[in-house]
Amino acid sequence: MSSKVLIAFATNYGSTREVAETIAATLRDRGLVVDILPFREIRALTGYSAIVMGAPLVRYSLHKDLHAFLSRNRQALVKLPIALFALGPVHDPYDAKEWQGSQEQLDKESSKFSWLTPITVKLFGGKFDPALLRFPLNKMAGSEPASDIRDWNAIRAWAESLLEKLPKSA
Ligand SMILES: Cc1cc2nc3c(=O)[nH]c(=O)nc-3n(C[C@H](O)[C@H](O)[C@H](O)COP(=O)(O)O)c2cc1C
Repeated sequence: MSSKVLIAFATNYGSTREVAETIAATLRDRGLVVDILPFREIRALTGYSAIVMGAPLVRYSLHKDLHAFLSRNRQALVKLPIALFALGPVHDPYDAKEWQGSQEQLDKESSKFSWLTPITVKLFGGKFDPALLRFPLNKMAGSEPASDIRDWNAIRAWAESLLEKLPKSA
């Protein structure tokens, strides 16, 4: 019997890592044993009772590391409870159209993996820093301002909600 939860994430610029770390800290505060790893460093899924997966939306898709992880681990993942979160919208102030577009991208992406049935899927606001972009993305970003609309209360609340949804052991 195991009650260890794996938090697995992809990131380009670090903001999804910080969200994953906050979710890990919230679950640990509530007594869960948690491992947190980038998708690329995960070698085996034995010993976990559930997985929380997170990735940013990047050019209308979920980060490629999440896609690769899902394809690589299908057999093990169908047996595990999964919670999925994504980061996407970055406009400040709140832009309903942007959120709707990101939500549609997330829905479309999740539906590509029809065998994947997460117990919950959540979209969070993300962070955008044009100073971190390299050519040609920095040119394409134009004069987009930096923003960070990650809602830490909503992130912690979602993590708390997982306590009810994820099994205590498997
Ligand atoms: C090059 C680039 C492309 C992006 N494409 C999308 C997108 O298609 N849809 C979306 O909702 N957000 C998009 N975003 C916003 C990111 O999801 C957001 O910045 C996220 O916080 C980045 O996560 P990371 O810091 O973990 O890499 C994009 C951001 C960048 C820099």
